[in-house]
Amino acid sequence: MTTKVLIIPAAGAGSRMQKDTPKPFLQLGNQTILEQTIRRFLPLDGLQQVLVATSGSFVQKTENILKKVLPSEIKGGCLVGGKTRQESIYNALQEVFAADLVIVHDAVRPFVKLQHVQHCCSAARQYGGAVLGVPAKDTIKRINDQQEIKETPSRKYLWQTQTPQVFQRDLLVRAYKQALEDDFVGTDDSSLVERLEETVKMVEGDRSNFKITYPLDLEVAELLIKKDK
Ligand code: C5P
Repeated sequence: MTTKVLIIPAAGAGSRMQKDTPKPFLQLGNQTILEQTIRRFLPLDGLQQVLVATSGSFVQKTENILKKVLPSEIKGGCLVGGKTRQESIYNALQEVFAADLVIVHDAVRPFVKLQHVQHCCSAARQYGGAVLGVPAKDTIKRINDQQEIKETPSRKYLWQTQTPQVFQRDLLVRAYKQALEDDFVGTDDSSLVERLEETVKMVEGDRSNFKITYPLDLEVAELLIKKDK
């Protein structure tokens, strides 16, 4: 069986949500968003450790959540994140026990399906890395600083990338070390691995795995949670 560690970055300020509480700690149904998200992964075969990166003032609350949701065979850990998502994950990687795969999943994507996580894990095992995504539905433009359109890439090759992003542990550690050395900051984990010219597969998921970012996303999430009951 492949052993797995789950890293959840939850240290963002959530300024786009216009609320004082960071998004992972907002209530969704009868639980916090973070709790809903962690629960999605609990039936995953071989999951041994769950690490959550959060801001200093939410460490205690996160530890309580981990105690409440994790069964005794899965070790929980909470650590203080950094200024960027990348720094938060780098800090978490220092605490990872030996494991075959590292799964990174945003705290604010509580609707991920277990079957899609499993597909990513199988592909990462085979190829090195795999991320979940969906084909771009809008036409995407590349613009310049004056907001003039410079290019319309073919939609055939454009996908919106989500999490989980899953990698063989040694590959991900190497990618994060190299990014630090080169001062490279990416907005996801895959971009760090791509720089090493290693293979990362795109696995098709669905649009219910959206990232709760704006107030409208939270309204949609509340409707979906009610429907799930
Ligand atoms: O900012 P963005 O929407 O890309 O955040 C994605 C995830 O990364 C969120 O779960 C957020 O809490 C987390 N994050 C983090 N540390 C930061 C910034 C974001 O753990 N410094």
